[in-house]
Amino acid sequence: MTDDRSPRPPAPGANTGGWPFKDNLDVLDRMRDQAREGGGPERVAEQHQRGKLTARERVNLLFDEGTFEEFDVLKAGRGGLLGDRGEFLSDGVITGHGAINGREVFIFSQDFTVMGGSLGEAHSEKIGKVMDHAVRVGAPFIGLNDSGGARIQEGVDALAAYGEIFNRNVMASGVIPQISCIMGPCAGGAVYSPAMTDFTFMVENSSYMFVTGPNVVKTVIHQEISFEDLGGAGVHSGKSGVAHFVLPNDILCLREVRRLISYLPSNNRQRPPYLDLLDPPDRADPVLDYLVPANPNQPYDMGILIHSILDGAEFLEVHSNFARNLIVGFGRLGGQTIGLIANQPAILAGVLDNDAAVKGARFVRFCDAFNIPLVCLVDVPGFMPGPDQEHGGIIRHGAKLLYAFTEAMTPRITVIVRKAYGGAYVVMNSKHIGADFNYAWPTAEIAVIGPRAAAEVIYRKEIAASPDPASALLDKEGQYRQTFANPFLAAKRGYIDDVIFPRETRGRLIRSLQVLENKQSPRPDRRHGNIPL
Ligand code: HXC
Repeated sequence: MTDDRSPRPPAPGANTGGWPFKDNLDVLDRMRDQAREGGGPERVAEQHQRGKLTARERVNLLFDEGTFEEFDVLKAGRGGLLGDRGEFLSDGVITGHGAINGREVFIFSQDFTVMGGSLGEAHSEKIGKVMDHAVRVGAPFIGLNDSGGARIQEGVDALAAYGEIFNRNVMASGVIPQISCIMGPCAGGAVYSPAMTDFTFMVENSSYMFVTGPNVVKTVIHQEISFEDLGGAGVHSGKSGVAHFVLPNDILCLREVRRLISYLPSNNRQRPPYLDLLDPPDRADPVLDYLVPANPNQPYDMGILIHSILDGAEFLEVHSNFARNLIVGFGRLGGQTIGLIANQPAILAGVLDNDAAVKGARFVRFCDAFNIPLVCLVDVPGFMPGPDQEHGGIIRHGAKLLYAFTEAMTPRITVIVRKAYGGAYVVMNSKHIGADFNYAWPTAEIAVIGPRAAAEVIYRKEIAASPDPASALLDKEGQYRQTFANPFLAAKRGYIDDVIFPRETRGRLIRSLQVLENKQSPRPDRRHGNIPL
C-alpha cells in the first residue's frame, strides 16, 4: 500500500523559499487521507460489527504484502442528480492491481461505508479501467462486491454504468479468469456481473444475492422470506448453484481465492502454472485395487480415488455443495493443473441429473477456455429417470454436458472405474466424442443398460414362461453380466485404449498428460457453435 506521505524534495537553496510546489503536496495528502477514510470511523465500526472487513482491509489481505498499487484514488463521483451529494473521492470503490503468489491480478473492492458501496458513473469507470488493463496485460480479474446496487441518485447513468461492466465481463470471458466475491449485499441487476464471471464466492451470514429482495417478494407474491433464505450463501451454494464456493468469513474467503488463483493460468494464451509438490509421478496406491466393492450396487466414495491420484492429495473442489452426485474441481498431476470431473457413486449412485449436467458443462468449458487438461473418472449408472427430471429439461441440460465435452480442445483423458451405461457412457468423455485417451479398470462395466434392466427387457418372455421367474431373472442377469458388464468388448473395439490396474492410475495419467502436452485440435471456421443453453 502507498499509504505514506508524499516525499518532499529537499529545499533547493535558502533564497528560493523552498520547493515551489509544496502546497500541491499538502493538498494531495489531504485528498488521499479523505479518500482513504471511506465513510468515516463510525461506518467502519458498523462494518466490523457485522463481521465484515473494510474494502481496504480485504485488498490488503488478498495480495502479497506490499504489492497493491491503487488507481484513481482521487477520482471523484459527480454527485447525484438530486443535488444532495458533493464529491466523494474514490467514489465508493478501491481499484488497482497487486500480486498473488507473485503473479499480477487486477481488482475492485467496493466500499460499503461510502454510500452503501452503490455504483454510479465514476465508480463504474474505475472498475472498467482495471478490467481493460487486466485484459490488455492478460491478468486475472477479481471483484469484491459489497454494494447496495445502482446508485439511486444517479438515475439512468447508474444503469448505464452497470451495462459498461457487463459488456467488459463478456468480452473478457474466456480471455482472463474472472472471479467474484460476494461479501455483502448484491441485489437487482447487479447480480448479473458476478453471474457472468467464472467463479463466485460467498461469505456465510454476511452476503446475499437476489434479483428482487424480500420486500418485493412480499408485495408481489405475498410471501414472507428472510434475506438469508431468499439469497444467502447456503441457498446459492446448495440449491441454485450460483455460488461455487462458500466460506465462513472474509479472511477465509480471500485465502481461498488465493488458492484458486494458484491453479489457474493468467490468461487463455498461457498454460496453467506448474507447481512441484514433490509427489513421485509413479507412486502406486495398492489400496485402490480394493476400492470397487464386489457388489455392483454398493456405493463407495470417489473422493478416495481423487485424493489418492492427485499430487499431495490436494484437491480444490468447485461447487462442493451443489449436485454432489458429480464432483468437479482442480488438482495437480505431475505438477500440472488438471480439471477433474468424476461421478460420485456415494450420492444418488452417481447418476447424472439436471444440476449435475449444468455444473459439469460449465466446468468443462472453463477448463477448455484456459488450456486446463480434463481428467474424467467414470462410474455412472445413467441419467436420472422420472418426470421431475424430464419436465425439468434433462434433454436440454444433458445436452449441455455432451456439447461441452465434445467441443473441448484441451487434452482429455477418461478412466472408467465401474459403471458406464448408456448415453451417460458416451457423454462422460468417451472416445466417440473426442477424448484422447480412454482407460478402464478391470472392474469397469460398459454396456447399454445395467444387467438387471437388460435381462428384464431382452429375456422378458423366457423369464415369464419359466416355472421360477425370480431365479430365471437372476440366471439371465448373470449371463448378461458375464458378456457385457466388463471393459473387454469396448477394449476389443479400441474404444478403450487400455485396461489398467487401479494402483497404477496416477502414473498412467501423468504419462498421458505428458504425451498430450502439445495437442492440436483444428476446429471448423465459424463464429461460434450454438450450445443448447
Ligand atoms: C444510493 C444507497 C444505495 C443505493 C444503499 N445506499 N443503497 N445509496 N443508492 N442503491 C446508502 C443508504 O442510503 C445509506 O446511506 C447507506 O448506503 C447504507 O445503507 P443502509 O440502508 O443504511 O444499510 P443496510 O441497512 O445495511 O441496508 C443495505 C441495503 C439497503 C439492503 C442494501 O441499503 C437497500 O435496500 N438499498 C437499496 C437497494 C436497491 O434497491 N438497489 C437498487 C437495486 S437495482 P446513508 O447516508 O443514509 O447512511 C440495481 C439495478 C442494477 O442495482 C442495474 C443493472 C442493469
